[in-house]
Amino acid sequence: MRGPQLYLFYIYAPWLDESFTEDLCAASLHGMSQRSRNLPRRSCLSTPGSSERFLAKAPTVTADMTFLDLEDSVAPNEKVAARARVVEAIRTLPWDDRVLCVRVNAWDTKWTYGDVIEVVGNAGERLDEIMLPKVQSAAEVVAMDLLLTQVEKNCGLPIGHIGIEAQIETARGLINVDEICAASPRLETIIFGPADFAASIEMPVLTGGVAIPEYPGDHFNYVFSRILMAGRANGLQVIDGPFLKVRDNDALREFAQRTKILGYDGKWALTPDQAAVLNEVYSPTQEQFDRAWDILETYRVATEENNTGALMFGDEMIDEASRKMAIKFLTRGERAGLSRSTTA
Ligand code: GLV
Ligand code: MG
Repeated sequence: MRGPQLYLFYIYAPWLDESFTEDLCAASLHGMSQRSRNLPRRSCLSTPGSSERFLAKAPTVTADMTFLDLEDSVAPNEKVAARARVVEAIRTLPWDDRVLCVRVNAWDTKWTYGDVIEVVGNAGERLDEIMLPKVQSAAEVVAMDLLLTQVEKNCGLPIGHIGIEAQIETARGLINVDEICAASPRLETIIFGPADFAASIEMPVLTGGVAIPEYPGDHFNYVFSRILMAGRANGLQVIDGPFLKVRDNDALREFAQRTKILGYDGKWALTPDQAAVLNEVYSPTQEQFDRAWDILETYRVATEENNTGALMFGDEMIDEASRKMAIKFLTRGERAGLSRSTTA
């Protein structure tokens, strides 16, 4: 079900409390979770929510986004206790202006609703998003959206404050990725989870998210492209998951080129060193950034002052499509903190 249709359904459902439908309308009209939606996510640092030590260290790591995990990096017996640790960390640690997210457990466990009620209900405004793992259908995103609305109402957060990041980690999730990406205006990103995905499709590998030398090409190219199309068609940021060989940063740099070149916004980091590599890989170079500026300027003069739509720029022809490509570099570069080199 697409987002706007879903919201129309709520608006005309007579049995719903009036202010609830008004809140939903306001949220969908004014756009949700505006603070974090367009922030960079070149590096997304995973932090186990059960570890005081890792939680304390997380704000010191230079990463665009940090998520505090209640899912697979937390042992079953620690799941409930980790919620309070995560809340305490969000409320008390110095998070600067990075995107701050909590990954809850998937809907097929017994923990999801408790995770949301306890964490969102107590974390305060600094929490930007909830990450929902192993999403298999649009209904799972809708369920999270509805639960978040109730929790926001009860704890005094603005309706729509909390965004959603959805992970695609199963064959079914990939088949339904178009509907998933359109399921809620709260969605900010779609993420590929290579480790769970490899298990789901029964790929014979024991390490997720790394190159397979025996395979002639990129074994995940189809998956990367499929998720990218669904994400971009719905205006989402698109993120690649973890690279599990955490001591081999050269291999990470090489592997991350695949999704960087396709157009992904960033990738998960499991260590501070991985975050440093990814901040570099997913930023345009200064040379690309300057060239994008030059293209825009040359094109503007040609179209506005000389009424020319296609022209030569060095030894290349540029036109309106070149302007669109250049704008993407500027957005990425500005998000990454670049500014134009001074021209002589
Ligand atoms: C991440 O959650 C993965 O399964 O790769
Ligand atoms: Mg996973």
